[in-house]
Amino acid sequence: MLNTIGVIGLGVMGRNIALNMAGKGERVAVYNYTRDLTDQLVVKLEGQSIYPYYEVQDFVQSLETPRKIFLMVTAGKPIDSVIQALTPHLELGDIIMDGGNSHYEDTERRYDALKSKRIGYLGIGISGGEVGALKGPSIMPGGDQDVYEKTASILTKIAAQVNGDPCCTYIVPKGAGHFVKMVHNGIEYADMQLIAEAYTFLREKLQIPVEEMADIFETWNQGELKSYLIEITAEILRKKDEVTGLPLIDVILDKAGQKGTGKWTSIQAIDNGIPASIITESLFARYISALKEERVQANTILTGPKNVQQTLDKNEWIDYIRQALYMGKVCAYAQGFTQYKMTSELFGWDLPLKDIALIFRGGCIIRAEFLNVISESYQEQPDLTNLLISPYFAEKVTDYQIGLRKVVSEGINSGISFPCLSASLTYYDSYRTSISNANLLQAQRDYFGAHTYERRDIAGVFHTNWL
Ligand code: 6PG
Repeated sequence: MLNTIGVIGLGVMGRNIALNMAGKGERVAVYNYTRDLTDQLVVKLEGQSIYPYYEVQDFVQSLETPRKIFLMVTAGKPIDSVIQALTPHLELGDIIMDGGNSHYEDTERRYDALKSKRIGYLGIGISGGEVGALKGPSIMPGGDQDVYEKTASILTKIAAQVNGDPCCTYIVPKGAGHFVKMVHNGIEYADMQLIAEAYTFLREKLQIPVEEMADIFETWNQGELKSYLIEITAEILRKKDEVTGLPLIDVILDKAGQKGTGKWTSIQAIDNGIPASIITESLFARYISALKEERVQANTILTGPKNVQQTLDKNEWIDYIRQALYMGKVCAYAQGFTQYKMTSELFGWDLPLKDIALIFRGGCIIRAEFLNVISESYQEQPDLTNLLISPYFAEKVTDYQIGLRKVVSEGINSGISFPCLSASLTYYDSYRTSISNANLLQAQRDYFGAHTYERRDIAGVFHTNWL
């Protein structure tokens, strides 16, 4: 009997995707470049319909045609190597799916190369970490629609389900699936950093003990802030270190890592004139955190403001922080969805924003209650230029700016760094400013470089002889 799908790459994500597929009734062939991971999986199979192969050729020949091969391999060169090893064994119409965090431009290059060989290629954004891979991730497939249709029954079945709807939708040609995943991760970076800043305020300004902070996040998770990242933050804050008995959060070194997707999101935004300041600030916050030794040294030389000790009304301020966090999140998602919209227009992609919000409701790391409203906003106004001006969010941010303003100014006056909360407020204020100071920038550019400017009153391009 032939296998219905193959998975290459048996690290934790690949292994869990294979188990997920087998659990949904697929016969799954698996292959790993090194034998050890295959053997580790085989030991745990217990009657699951997963079949290991140790040679690429045997793996490929075990699959029914058109062959569907799912790669869960480290992004970058390893993907090219696997494709190179696979293609001599494939036939016209076979399909390769890349489920890793590949850069969308690499996906487009691979798509083009395989298209010329008439092999289907889907770049598939997958979010949800290892649990999501096993129990149902959010899935963002990009490539040719007819190729997607051949894999849709499997992909929709293994995806997270929300109210009976799979968190998987076709995301237009070529690299768009991986692009959507990339910006998802940019939003993820911003969302995580905003939560970290709310935690800082609770901790440093309100002096709330870790256990109590866990309660606050748990309460927030029952309201409009309800989201996976708020939920896990409450759980993280409750966790005790087995070695010292202290809250685990207090023994974790304050140096953030990153694997590149937030950086790619920032670069793409910068390259294409897209305002993504909250996302880029969250990336830079990780970079500054990584300079731990320098920060420790600077702390012995540089001081913050003096005499800022003042007692704040705890409950009143907890609600200001809740408002600030909600508004920050709205601004961060607004930037991410603007990046989708502007890129979609630039590249002629027609990204389905309403559906992207829908598939983010389950399985993925940025899943959040308010994605329902985001999706409805795009349903009501498909050409919505920015989420901030949708009726629902415009009213929310108008109300909640008080919280964000109070928290940012109190934090800044106290010398606390708030890269993403302050970037959110700046974004909000810049976006609602009808007459900005860019007139002065234009005048300066024209003064020193004859770069010209436009006028408010007369159409055309002007240069002044300033001297
Ligand atoms: C997801 C995650 C996932 C992964 C990122 C984290 O959506 O499931 O985003 O893709 O955890 O690689 O990236 P950093 O290591 O850059 O934080």
